[in-house]
Amino acid sequence: MSAFSRLVMATTQAGPVRKLITDTRPGKALAHRFVAGDDVGAAIEIARSLGESKIAVSLDLLGEDVSKEEEIEQAVQGYVECLQAIEASGVEGNISVKLTQLGLEVDPGLAANTLDLLAIDAAALGLTVTIDMESSEHTDATVSIYEAAQGRHGNLGICLQAYLHRTPEDLRRLMPLGGLIRLCKGAYVEPAEVALQGREEVDRAFARLLDELMHSEECHPAIATHDPALIAQAKSLAGARQASFEFQMLFGVRPEEQRALAGEGYAVRVYVPYGSNWYAYLTRRLAERPANLGLFARALVGKR
Ligand code: FDA
Repeated sequence: MSAFSRLVMATTQAGPVRKLITDTRPGKALAHRFVAGDDVGAAIEIARSLGESKIAVSLDLLGEDVSKEEEIEQAVQGYVECLQAIEASGVEGNISVKLTQLGLEVDPGLAANTLDLLAIDAAALGLTVTIDMESSEHTDATVSIYEAAQGRHGNLGICLQAYLHRTPEDLRRLMPLGGLIRLCKGAYVEPAEVALQGREEVDRAFARLLDELMHSEECHPAIATHDPALIAQAKSLAGARQASFEFQMLFGVRPEEQRALAGEGYAVRVYVPYGSNWYAYLTRRLAERPANLGLFARALVGKR
């Protein structure tokens, strides 16, 4: 993550900036670019329209760092409704979950149990669950919980972040489990002891991991990037690959490239977040591309 992106991340943590984004029309409009809407119905609507371009979805009920029991229960209930809505609507979809939304910070055992419930519900409907990867203090627990749950249920996936020094080892540990492995660059502010800092070194790490992942016939690679050079590399590796893989992108980011890849016959899945807890998610989208904040600032000034 560049120094400027770190600055954006730090600035958006300040209360007045948060208020400026959550309480103004330009702020809400910016969120709307990246978030489907407040409820599962809005997410299913987006899924249907992406489906017209043969694009699948992964639905994310926004929320993270949850510590209250009732909020954990609400998240589980929300995800159960989401799985049922996917099934009932017939859209091609699965769910993405964050373990800190399922109780990881309260008790890893609780997060493992709630994940089990969702995996069982999803399996009953023929659906899958992918675990997002959060900040590095949670990586160890997330990898272990995935390993155990995938061993028990077989319908899970996990995201690995190319910027972490530990990821080559995690990749080799998890590929034989046969689940979906989503490779992304990494979106959190991390210290140099745990993560690569420069954009170019992260890109090189992603390229090396991508090569390894695409040579594994055991797991299902999900290549989660909008980076044209890495997408081109994945296409060139795809020629020799016998087993399945997919591209993944975020709702609101490079939609024309999403449709182009699907039009070329590649499997494409778009990550579609929904719900009212969108602020933390939005700050990561702003930090990835500080120009997004410029658009917001201009809209704000224009409105005043
Ligand atoms: P890069 O940042 O180099 O972007 C390449 C190009 O894409 C840019 O030049 C721009 O055109 C466009 N672009 C990228 N981000 C944009 C934005 N926010 N707004 C507008 N344009 C943008 N991270 C994580 O830590 N844990 C996770 O679980 C996940 N999960 C996840 C799922 C999926 C499906 C995707 C695509 C990404 C994630 N990520 C994630 C986020 C990931 O780590 C990374 O921060 C972003 O994907 C941006 O990196 P790119 O690989 O797109 O490259």
